[in-house]
Amino acid sequence: MKREIKGNVSWVGYVDWELQKFHGDDYSIMNGSSQNAYLIEEEKTVLIDTVWTPHGNEFVNNLREEIGLDKIDVIVMNHGEADHSGALPELMREIPDTPIYCTANAVKSLEGQYGKNGWNFKTVKTGDSVDIGNGKKLIFVEMKMLHWPDSMATYLTGDNVLFSNDAFGQHFAAGGLFNDTADRCLLEKEAMKYYANILNPFSSFVTRKLDEINSLGLPIDIIAPSHGVIWREDPLSIVGKYAEWADEYQEDQVTVIYDTMWEGTAAIAHEIAGAVSRISPGTEVKVFNCSKADKNEIMTEVFKSKAVAVGSPTVGNDILTSVSSTVHFMKSLKFQNKKAAAFGCYGWSGESVKILKEKLTDAGFRVVDESIRSMWKPNDEELASAESLAKALLS
Ligand code: FEO
Repeated sequence: MKREIKGNVSWVGYVDWELQKFHGDDYSIMNGSSQNAYLIEEEKTVLIDTVWTPHGNEFVNNLREEIGLDKIDVIVMNHGEADHSGALPELMREIPDTPIYCTANAVKSLEGQYGKNGWNFKTVKTGDSVDIGNGKKLIFVEMKMLHWPDSMATYLTGDNVLFSNDAFGQHFAAGGLFNDTADRCLLEKEAMKYYANILNPFSSFVTRKLDEINSLGLPIDIIAPSHGVIWREDPLSIVGKYAEWADEYQEDQVTVIYDTMWEGTAAIAHEIAGAVSRISPGTEVKVFNCSKADKNEIMTEVFKSKAVAVGSPTVGNDILTSVSSTVHFMKSLKFQNKKAAAFGCYGWSGESVKILKEKLTDAGFRVVDESIRSMWKPNDEELASAESLAKALLS
């Protein structure tokens, strides 16, 4: 269903209230999501992006009923990942000669997924443009590694709309479509979760790209991403947030992450959390049992933290798989400038703390010397050492 955004720009995407996971099972969806596609009806009619395959038939039928598929003169594919290109094969069966503007890497992505169909690709680079009539044009801006090699943004002159694709998006279903009609708390939370879990590994690219976009000097009235709300009120606020988040972001927070077999490691986790709060009452402290908590929520809290403490008991000369996969995820997100400490109980061999220190160092954390390693269950002396560990994390 077409919904007006500004002037002759409409939203024609799909709000998915029921989506629960994304990227396989690797991203939890707590508040719905959307696949945003857009229509620009000037002298030329332009479609920007499509929707995921399961909603593709409905998407194509809506376009057929509302404007007629033959009216589409130009298709822009800002990104080839299936949540935005899934409806393209069905659409191209109907209008096979329509030009598709995208990056050279997007051609590889689309042909890799859907085969070589002889589609009429028009490959573009940053600064290339296409005239769409009524004095308006589209200017393309490559967004390489935000978050794929093929990613691109498209800017509409006259209306000053930046169609940013995944950048500035959120997995968040917003019935009202715009940031000024959405639940602000949820929106901020989901935008940060999206950055932490999807874009953080590419923060150096984000910083360079924001500088490049600023240097283009394009006035921006609206930022229209491919997921979540359209930034209409103070649209540059999310650009400012990205600049902050890309710059080794941290708040005054310490996060304690653990799993436990017989509650010994859990006791140390809570002792460390208590010690941080006693020493630094203003510091936010969060504690997660990583076998029970949502992994993407944990990653968002790690993103916000200046330090983490990670604990696992020793089992089979190793650490628990829940902790191992959590630290592996932390490594893949390439967090910068954060401290870490390790702790854990054991009954005989007791390698967990050593293994955790190695893994956390390998994951890019500055691991402090202080640790807590306790046989059977932590005694008073070991629990008291949480104080020096907390001081090391806070210093
Ligand atoms: Fe929303 Fe990278 O796809």
